[in-house]
Amino acid sequence: MRTVIFLKKLLMAICLFTSATGFSQKQKVIKPGEVWPDNDGNHIQAHGGGIIKLDRTYYWYGEERKQGLDTAYRYVSCYSSTDLTNWAFKGDVVKMKDPEKLGKGWILERPKVYYNEKTKKFVMYFHLDDKSYKLARVGIAVSDKPDGEFKFVKSFRPLGHESRDIGQFIDDDGTAYLVFEDRPNGFRIALLSSDYMNVEKEMCLIPNHMEGGAIVHFNGLYYAIGSALTGWNANPNKYATARYLEGPWSEFHDIAPPATKTYGAQSTMLIKVVGKKSTTVLFMGDIWKPKTQWD
Ligand code: GAL
Repeated sequence: MRTVIFLKKLLMAICLFTSATGFSQKQKVIKPGEVWPDNDGNHIQAHGGGIIKLDRTYYWYGEERKQGLDTAYRYVSCYSSTDLTNWAFKGDVVKMKDPEKLGKGWILERPKVYYNEKTKKFVMYFHLDDKSYKLARVGIAVSDKPDGEFKFVKSFRPLGHESRDIGQFIDDDGTAYLVFEDRPNGFRIALLSSDYMNVEKEMCLIPNHMEGGAIVHFNGLYYAIGSALTGWNANPNKYATARYLEGPWSEFHDIAPPATKTYGAQSTMLIKVVGKKSTTVLFMGDIWKPKTQWD
């Protein structure tokens, strides 16, 4: 009898410990709009991010905004998963000090990583800016492994244009594109060079002003989505379609009931999951809280 009570107590203690740490609690579903813990029970910090798949593993890179970081640096986190729901923290793969002498408040946002089969390098693009968002460049950092460390290589304006929010698109044939917001002109889609170290050729300029740009190729159509330019505040995100990346693109339509302002989120990426029975597209957006960015 005593042993049974002891065993019961031990079991309860283990349960309490695991629920307190989040350890070994497999999540069955993604819960939109709720805090999303990683496998250690910590709130995932991967804002404005991008997800790629290598063999059976997904890697999620994003802005690391946890509390207590050294403000002299900017950080990019990396998580891995095989089911898009349970994520293991792989560490901060970027810890960068002001690479272009931009001064206090410099900005590294919306990191996106591409894997180049030919060079076997992981190439990260990110929005690099000064605190007033006047530089409008992309930065590139490179690593030999998915989980870093990524080293800064250079920064530039893609094809000479202003570039703030960036998005990533890899077509079904593996061709890699960068989507970028060129404030005076609109939303550009451009092909990367074969080593991914440059933006080589413009595919299209969509003359709409959109941030958080993302593209997916689904059932013979390209879908481009983005948000209006309202900074950290949510707005009704919109989409257009085209048969070819070069266009012509349709009019823009709401992706959600406009009154919900995209359920308080801003577009960040579209993930196409090709399953055995069906293909699904996930919309991923950030619910920003500018005063508590880690939340
Ligand atoms: C948003 C943009 C974010 C960030 C923010 C700053 O529109 O998507 O990445 O730059 O503005 O206000």
